[in-house]
Amino acid sequence: MVFLLPILVFGGLLVGLTIALTVAERVLINYGVCKLDINAGDREFEVDGGQTLLSALNEVKVFIPSACGGRGSCGHCKVTVLAGGGPVLPTETPFLTRVQVRQGVRLACQVKIREDIRIKVPEEILNVKMFSANVSRTQALTHDIVEVNFRLNEPAEIEQRPGQYVQLQAPSPEGPVYRAYSISSPSYEMNDVELIVRLVPGGIGSTYCHNLSVDDPVIFTGPYGEFRLNEDPEVEIICVGGGCGMAPMKNIIYTVYDRWPDRKLWLFFGARTTQDVFYLDEFKELAGKHPNFKVIYALSDPLGEDEEWDGETGFIHLSVDKHIDKNGENRQAFLCGPPPMIEAVMKVLDDKGLKGKDIFYDEF
Ligand SMILES: Cc1cc2nc3c(=O)[nH]c(=O)nc-3n(C[C@H](O)[C@H](O)[C@H](O)COP(=O)(O)OP(=O)(O)OC[C@H]3O[C@@H](n4cnc5c(N)ncnc54)[C@H](O)[C@@H]3O)c2cc1C
Ligand code: FES
Repeated sequence: MVFLLPILVFGGLLVGLTIALTVAERVLINYGVCKLDINAGDREFEVDGGQTLLSALNEVKVFIPSACGGRGSCGHCKVTVLAGGGPVLPTETPFLTRVQVRQGVRLACQVKIREDIRIKVPEEILNVKMFSANVSRTQALTHDIVEVNFRLNEPAEIEQRPGQYVQLQAPSPEGPVYRAYSISSPSYEMNDVELIVRLVPGGIGSTYCHNLSVDDPVIFTGPYGEFRLNEDPEVEIICVGGGCGMAPMKNIIYTVYDRWPDRKLWLFFGARTTQDVFYLDEFKELAGKHPNFKVIYALSDPLGEDEEWDGETGFIHLSVDKHIDKNGENRQAFLCGPPPMIEAVMKVLDDKGLKGKDIFYDEF
């Protein structure tokens, strides 16, 4: 106890000093107006110094991915800073490789604008838009997962690739926050965006989605994401999802069968019990029309009342292991779900001979 006291006092002093410095910087230091140059003069803005690069970009309607809403915990908000970003902060290094640090890659939510700044962002990001929409439908899929549809107003259409996501604006006591949700509606549905959202108890974004009613107005930005479906119909698709990780899979499945009715596609879906199962009948019906669509659901923790279950049991990576051939050619995989599931499935796919470039995943 005696040893703890100096540590606590020192820790308290450190926290106090940090707060005092932050407040002093906000109140006393005025960085004035700074120039923000994007892609070598392609776009130039004047922004208030003192704010983060992420909020300055939002202000000038350049919407970069920021799944954690600027809390420095998702690592999605990477941009290349060519000049004026200051030193890399310890909060950024866990998300950056040494090569990225050398190239000037930074987390926009951690970079403070204190002087003129020059940055580089991919062209695709400059095309991300802010959409206003209204809820057109909500439907409970399970005890904690809801499907919500939005009818787009302005712009009235969205161009998205299967597997991409939007960032939905949700109100919070500290002001609006953004949360990432994969688009589950197929890419040919240009006026409608559908999301599948699991309720995280106490979570701002998911609670907001679960409380939405028909006609409520919403705002989101997008589309974002690196998923790229191979356009060659000979390439077999392997989709593996758990829980709300179904969202991008649904998009991929309907987009694929709209364009290539005979394409080979596997859907592996992991659920804990039958209470967590959804879309199974719908997909079985679709498989009836497309014989190369294979649907495999597995329960990891079946309950006594699940005794009628005639699907598979066990973790979903075991089902992938059982059904996917070793060393097959021409395959592409899309994975979405909790990190342990992704890790286990990645190991299986590696063992089956899939290359890293052919595996896309989002952890959530
Ligand atoms: C690319 C991408 C796509 C995504 N797509 C979807 C999707 O299609 N459907 C969907 O439902 N979600 C999706 N997510 C997750 C989503 O963005 C939010 O993280 C999730 O809804 C929780 O946000 P929240 O505001 O409700 O909780 P927050 O207010 O952010 O967090 C509340 C508390 O819950 C904890 N918490 C946060 N997330 C989880 C979690 N997943 N499980 C347990 N505890 C958690 C936090 O640490 C915090 O303590 C996606 C995430 C990413 C990065
Ligand atoms: S927005 Fe998540 S780390 Fe920057």
